[in-house]
Amino acid sequence: MSTFLPFRSSASRRCSSFIVHRLSFIVLFFTPCLLFSQKTSVKDIDKRVETLLAKMTPDEKIGQLNQVPGDISTGTDVASKDDLLTQIKAGTVGSVLSHTNFENKIKMQRAAIEGTRLGIPLIFGFDVIHGYKTIFPIPLAQAASWDAGLVERIERIAAAEAAADGQHWTFAPMVDVARDPRWGRVMEGSGEDPLLGSRIAEARIRGFQGSNLADPLSVAACTKHYAGYGFSESGRDYNTVDMSEQRLREMVLPPFKAAADAGSATFMNAFNTLNGVPASMNRHLITDILRGEWGWKGLVVSDWNSFGETIIHGAASDETDASAKCINAGSDMDMAGTTFRNGLKKALEAGRVTQAQIDEAVRRVLRLKFSVGLFDAPFAHLDPARRAATLEKPEYRQTAREAAAKSMVLLKNDGGLLPLTASSTRKRVLIVGPYADSKDKKDYMSFWTLGLGNPDYDPSKIVTPAMGLKPALEALGFEVSVMTVCYDAACTEPELSPLINATREAEIIIVCVGEHGLDCGESRSVADINLPRNQEQILRIVSRGNKPTVMVLFNSRPLTFQWADQNLPAILVAWQPGFETGNALADVLTGKVNPSGKLPVTFPRTLGQVPIYYNALNTGRPQQQTGQMWTSGYLDSPTSPAYPFGFGLSYTTFSYSNINLPKSKVKMGDLVEVSVTVTNTGKVAGEEIVQLYTHDLAADIARPVKELKGFEKIKLGPGDSRLVTFTLTEKDLSYWNHELKFKADPGKFKVFVGGNSREVKEAEFEVVAR
Ligand code: NOJ
Repeated sequence: MSTFLPFRSSASRRCSSFIVHRLSFIVLFFTPCLLFSQKTSVKDIDKRVETLLAKMTPDEKIGQLNQVPGDISTGTDVASKDDLLTQIKAGTVGSVLSHTNFENKIKMQRAAIEGTRLGIPLIFGFDVIHGYKTIFPIPLAQAASWDAGLVERIERIAAAEAAADGQHWTFAPMVDVARDPRWGRVMEGSGEDPLLGSRIAEARIRGFQGSNLADPLSVAACTKHYAGYGFSESGRDYNTVDMSEQRLREMVLPPFKAAADAGSATFMNAFNTLNGVPASMNRHLITDILRGEWGWKGLVVSDWNSFGETIIHGAASDETDASAKCINAGSDMDMAGTTFRNGLKKALEAGRVTQAQIDEAVRRVLRLKFSVGLFDAPFAHLDPARRAATLEKPEYRQTAREAAAKSMVLLKNDGGLLPLTASSTRKRVLIVGPYADSKDKKDYMSFWTLGLGNPDYDPSKIVTPAMGLKPALEALGFEVSVMTVCYDAACTEPELSPLINATREAEIIIVCVGEHGLDCGESRSVADINLPRNQEQILRIVSRGNKPTVMVLFNSRPLTFQWADQNLPAILVAWQPGFETGNALADVLTGKVNPSGKLPVTFPRTLGQVPIYYNALNTGRPQQQTGQMWTSGYLDSPTSPAYPFGFGLSYTTFSYSNINLPKSKVKMGDLVEVSVTVTNTGKVAGEEIVQLYTHDLAADIARPVKELKGFEKIKLGPGDSRLVTFTLTEKDLSYWNHELKFKADPGKFKVFVGGNSREVKEAEFEVVAR
């Protein structure tokens, strides 16, 4: 429960204030955090902000609105080349991003406090995307766990490490709904569904910010990229986004709204244009919706020079014009650009911007600084003892291992090839492929951990597949050999004959293929989503002898692998699992952990199907079978995906029966209860993610064939059953209609319950007017 989240919308703050009052008594005696919450009540902060603001000159104010890159670059080269300490002492820096060196951060903070007239401390920001020092699975993988509690625990650890290393602010969570696997940044989000994305977004905010932003082990969150970035045309990063207001509100905005309600301290603009208007100068998005409709009170920072890029978009003439347009839209801080530095004062002098507008942006910066405790304890995040006690605690590894195992998705397991257990009659296992035992620091990781979170990054921290699997399998009586081959491209001649010999010897083959960390992330879109670097070749070679083969896929996005799908009996999506890769893999492949991950994004059969997503409209001519004329399909491919949203197998099986609605006709506003009995029909215990979908049969405008409305993760022993009940509210049945009103229509609805978006039990109910 939040004790202090100053950036929440007033409505959501009101709801929790009673509980907060009650809890504060308990908190007073049981947690030292209250120290901070007492210091930082909203009113108190506002008073202190006003006092400080009144003392500031116009130049000092503009200085607070500049965020300057530190010792690593995470974008284009645009910022001022002046020495950072000189800039800080000149009062032209409010914040520093992407700075790793701890001692230098202390020096910079000292320069800001002791070397400037008012001694306003700096706020340090950093991209903490899937862990800071301890690296967890990529965000998309975490979403595949559908486990908000787990995600919150991950972010709590990431926050503690980042905060103890001098950061106050993370540029996460990325909550962009994305449907195009070509886009490199699919890996940073939670996939294609706005509801799952919302639940994960809230969990990340809770994890980063904790119950109190001023806790020295918390960081302020920055929800990004507002908005539409995940829908860039042709999957090309930074590309144009054009969509209806209806789609924006229904598919893109819900996770942002959820993050705002969860108290996200800040938001970040997106790089793209939305319907022609660059997001950084999009008044409709920032002022009308975020601050207006949602009542959110936080700070909006640009993305890396996105104010300056409004000029390149062709929507501003120069830095003065760009400054005026961005601040008029409601943006506050210029990340890594020179726009405000060079243009904001001129815009003020030209009457394009008022001092009151600049003051409002500065207020938001100062409020953030007060909220994270910077004025009361400016060196709290720069305490060497706390740093030493916090970074890379051994117990974090346990969470990393759990998270990696719970993220993995079993796509195929013909003949029950997996798990590999002591009772297996085949004992000789070959672990092979480019990612069998790679010590390259770009493997099992993403772009965001390569020299960014970890400049002193030591690849030996990663447990490779072979390092985890070999001992685990040997303990079960297997003989294990390992071959890391065919790394950079097609298998070379010298690699081939030893490889073929090894496969002859083997009785079971685990082939590790996929992407490395530089295949994904920002500015890393691809035009082909097949297994990269011709890795299908290695699959074909190792399977020549018809030995039972498991493909372990290390991926950051949905890939296509039709040949493997048709020819290999077992496929496990392991994503980019982070430091505990090998141990988590061993847990899953030996059955110590029964896989329970489900795809948060559709896996297409072929790139030509993209964008393909489960919550699509029916069309007037839906296709029943491939090739059916006069229907919406392809001549050369089914319309269905390789694996649908929500899909994932277990080592056990679950049956769904008795879908039941106590009332199949309800009045508008009444609750609709839906229950189903789920039974574990296999021989081992397992976790199942029970999913609830609806379809509005006849609405004001066409509605998706299925929309996720709820999910619950349950654990069942063999033979056990559980009645799972969901409750649908009027809000769950509402949508943005043709007048852009969010409301539900009377009429018939279908409801579906199942273990993925394709295999479901269904029933119908009707809503009648009140
Ligand atoms: C650009 C990216 O789009 C954004 O997500 C990131 O936070 C900033 N660079 C800072 O690294």
